[in-house]
Amino acid sequence: MPVWVIGTYDREGKPNVMTVAGGMACCRKPPLVGIALREATYTYQILKERPAFTVNIPSEAYAKEADYFGIASGRTEDKFAATGLTPVRSDLVDAPYVEEFPFFLECRLVHTIELGSHTLFIGEILDLKADEDVLGETGFPDIEKLKPLIFDYGNLIYQGIGGYLGKAFVMGKELKK
Ligand SMILES: Cc1cc2nc3c(=O)[nH]c(=O)nc-3n(C[C@H](O)[C@H](O)[C@H](O)COP(=O)(O)O)c2cc1C
Repeated sequence: MPVWVIGTYDREGKPNVMTVAGGMACCRKPPLVGIALREATYTYQILKERPAFTVNIPSEAYAKEADYFGIASGRTEDKFAATGLTPVRSDLVDAPYVEEFPFFLECRLVHTIELGSHTLFIGEILDLKADEDVLGETGFPDIEKLKPLIFDYGNLIYQGIGGYLGKAFVMGKELKK
């Protein structure tokens, strides 16, 4: 699973961050992402009141902070103060992003779907921003520079990405009749 950090402002305007592995890109037109949250999380409660969030992609260097964001609750802790990371108000949505993380999406909540143990919050991506030093020649983030974290759900460990394997939508063509 990918490791994403969701940024929100609570009722008092305190910035909060929560780690999710249940995140996915789910539509291209309009551009949408989904995050699956349990009702017990503070972020769930916040999103019911303030319908905006950021999706921040931590790099390997921030694995410890991302893990902490997933074991502490903003109900009782100030996660930015505890880690020394910096919340910055998005220009576009009512949510903070994590300045030190290299890549983030700015989303407004457009759908909420109760699924059972989890609720899928679907956000429309209004913009995405990346540090210049993680951009590749194409102008898009280069995954080997970004160094995102992978969460192994079965073994409860984080890993970095491995190396290049092949071109998507190309390497499978050999097997196509
Ligand atoms: C690697 C990892 C992945 C997680 N993924 C999810 C998830 O997809 N959905 C969820 O509800 N909680 C998930 N959690 C747990 C929440 O991050 C945790 O309950 C957190 O304390 C909620 O923060 P909040 O109360 O400030 O919103 C995950 C935790 C970790 C460490």
